[in-house]
Amino acid sequence: MTDRIVPLSSRPAWKALQQRAESIRPQQLRELFKSDPTRGTRFNAEACGLFLDYSKNRITDETLKLLIDLAKQSGLREHTEAMFTGQKINTTENRAVLHVALRAPKSESIKVDGEDVVPEVHKVLDKMSAFADKIRSGAWLGYTDKPIKNIINIGIGGSDLGPVMAYEALRHYSQRDLTFRFVSNVDGTDFAEATRDLDPEETLFLVASKTFTTLETMTNAHSARTWTLAKLKQTEAIAKHFVALSTNTELVSKFGIDTDNMFGFWDWVGGRYSMDSAIGLSTMIAIGPNNFRAMLEGFHAMDVHFRTTPLEQNLPALLGLLTVWYTDFFDAQTVAILPYEQYLKRFPAYLQQLTMESNGKHVTLDGTPVETQTGPIYWGEPGTNGQHSFYQLIHQGTRLIPADFIGFYKALNPLGRHHDMLMANVFAQAEALAFGKTAEEVRAEGVPEPLVPHKVFEGNRPSNTLLAEKLTPHTLGSLIALYEHSVFTQGVIWSIDSFDQWGVELGKVLATKILGELESPTEPKLDHDTSTTNLINLYRSHK
Ligand code: F6P
Repeated sequence: MTDRIVPLSSRPAWKALQQRAESIRPQQLRELFKSDPTRGTRFNAEACGLFLDYSKNRITDETLKLLIDLAKQSGLREHTEAMFTGQKINTTENRAVLHVALRAPKSESIKVDGEDVVPEVHKVLDKMSAFADKIRSGAWLGYTDKPIKNIINIGIGGSDLGPVMAYEALRHYSQRDLTFRFVSNVDGTDFAEATRDLDPEETLFLVASKTFTTLETMTNAHSARTWTLAKLKQTEAIAKHFVALSTNTELVSKFGIDTDNMFGFWDWVGGRYSMDSAIGLSTMIAIGPNNFRAMLEGFHAMDVHFRTTPLEQNLPALLGLLTVWYTDFFDAQTVAILPYEQYLKRFPAYLQQLTMESNGKHVTLDGTPVETQTGPIYWGEPGTNGQHSFYQLIHQGTRLIPADFIGFYKALNPLGRHHDMLMANVFAQAEALAFGKTAEEVRAEGVPEPLVPHKVFEGNRPSNTLLAEKLTPHTLGSLIALYEHSVFTQGVIWSIDSFDQWGVELGKVLATKILGELESPTEPKLDHDTSTTNLINLYRSHK
């Protein structure tokens, strides 16, 4: 499938990093800061309105240099160019990977199979804008001539997590007389609760599915159809209450959605990289076309930064390389994403799909087993809530959990001292994690001896701090692109395909088979293992 790649362990920088890691592991961040008073202001980088302080990482100048050498020896620049120029870098699916084209300005030209895709991107954006304006102004009328008040996005994975995250993140900018809901789970409760207080006459469904075959989405879409027709009776009503966001024209029209009301995208947009394509229609309706375009500009600014800035100052490259450093040299299993901004409450969940579906891979591009750990587990909650829940383990547990703190200079909802208090916690947590509290310091506070070990904070726990002016559509775009390209950087180092997701297939196939067995009116002949057989029989006898 791909030419044989140079094994990670044979790259000179990797070997050098292995040696460096031995000597860095016992070093304390306290000491590193003491020995270099410029560290806190030197290990910084800034781009697209995002300031990254990565000084509280267990690295030295030499480590950083070796990590950058590793990126070079792994061909990060060449792979980046291959992605931006539409080469088929998703080799297992033989596809280009061009989410960067979704936010390219009209003046750019990006070719896939000899055809410039940028004009098509802008055509869809213009169609989305016209539609969003009609909904927002009340000009789009439902079947009974009532304006649309409720928008329900039906989708799952990338066709849900991006839209939900962006809606929550940019709610401040949203049109408040419109209600937005998101249905993803095939659990009927999701649909029932999303629709229970809504009037079908005022409700528009956006059926979001790249393939238009996903079981959960199609099941929910059919239930939405039934729910709509229960009140509106006539099938012609569907055209006024359903639109599709998809690449699959044939199945969209088979479902009964007028293809005039379809907003398309392309096979070179991965599901988890699609929130800025037509899949973002709910976002555009919520915040308006101008804000949506500002978000795209934020994405594009980070794309340009990633493609052109030297690796030493390149935010996504630095973030990605640091993740490789902890994953492979410190045995870190996870990365905590800790946004101190309530509007980013779904950001960690969004990043879970982006990072884990991309880099949860066990073989390299040439099909040989990887030599090291790959994608770490991403997780998190907004601050300060996490502090009263899981931070104990990050501070005093036995695992190393690198963390990304995300904060803003300005609050979107200024309220008394709230924002200063919120941000004081960002700085305090990162400081406590890095520098901890020694036994001597604990004793000096008069703590009785038996309690001293319990009150010691080892410190030396790494974190990044990302700061921006305030959460705007532009900032959100840049922030997402930062993580997209960090994931890409990691994938290039590990020589994996960050853009396929074969690991989701087996469960889907088995579920389809088992569904038939659960619904079979006669006793099915089961050929599973004894545990699965027993569970199926139990369910059948109780349902
Ligand atoms: O099953 C995983 C997955 O393929 C994701 O990669 C994707 O985002 C999601 O399902 C939904 O796919 P679709 O948009 O085609 O419904």
